[in-house]
Amino acid sequence: MAKNNLVTPFLKWVGGKRQIMSSIVDLLPKDINKLNYVEPFIGGGALLFHLQPKKAVINDFNAELINVYKVIKNNLDELIIDLQKHKNEAEYFYKLRSLDRTEEYQKLSNIQRASRIIYLNKTCFNGLYRVNNAGEFNAPFGRYKNPNIVNAPTLKAVNKYLNSNKIDLITGDYADILNNTTKSSFIYLDPPYHPLTEGSSFTGYVQGGWNIYDQIRLREVCDELDKKGIKFLLSNSSTDFIKDQYSAYEINIVKANRSINSNGEKRGEVEEVLIRNYGNDKK
Ligand SMILES: C[S@@+](CC[C@H](N)C(=O)[O-])C[C@H]1O[C@@H](n2cnc3c(N)ncnc32)[C@H](O)[C@@H]1O
Repeated sequence: MAKNNLVTPFLKWVGGKRQIMSSIVDLLPKDINKLNYVEPFIGGGALLFHLQPKKAVINDFNAELINVYKVIKNNLDELIIDLQKHKNEAEYFYKLRSLDRTEEYQKLSNIQRASRIIYLNKTCFNGLYRVNNAGEFNAPFGRYKNPNIVNAPTLKAVNKYLNSNKIDLITGDYADILNNTTKSSFIYLDPPYHPLTEGSSFTGYVQGGWNIYDQIRLREVCDELDKKGIKFLLSNSSTDFIKDQYSAYEINIVKANRSINSNGEKRGEVEEVLIRNYGNDKK
């Protein structure tokens, strides 16, 4: 089936890959169409939706995010009806945002929870999913004039893609799904990035964030994949620490324009790395 251009990320997510997409595509293994696509840190899913593989395993530690994917797949009509109920008003925003601090949250259906995440993502400041250490959504109201809360064409296209292909949706730690992969898989890894400087961190969107020990654990998992002959491509920030960790592999440096402070107001060009354990001669 031909690719559908409407199949695109339905949420704005920290570390979205659109800017470095063409560099990633250039570095994919040449036999990618023969391999099962595995993306353990799916986030907004930019590469998955760009490639639209027929068979894929996607995972994220963020259960609320994976619930949104599942509801788009299984309950699209109810989701669209629920999204239409939302109001782009500060008072309404803060009321809905505060739900995860109350017992009422447990009573919400999967559809209502997914609808809430999409609404908050479209109307909050900078449109990012951000939670505090207790896992509570804490981004402020964004005051946008016309946020696209009910993006029906994209949601319908994503629903069709997820239902007409074999896409497994999983929530858990990346290492658990990688334990079961074989040489017939290709793994794209887009973990929380190692911060460029002390205090600048892009990791506020996942409870706890990632420290250097988390980065080292991931490199060890990559070493295991490599030993098993499983191809992987990994993106991260271009810091000495990351380049040192992966010095045994092919490293390409690419440039991206990103928010470079914690509230996302200041933007600048930053270097990122694409690391892989295979050649990319496109024969
Ligand atoms: C950089 S984002 C991915 C961005 C995404 N590729 C995109 O294009 O929008 C990293 C993701 O890793 C997830 N994550 C953090 N720790 C994880 C873990 N231990 N296992 C699996 N996913 C994790 C976060 O919830 C987040 O969605």
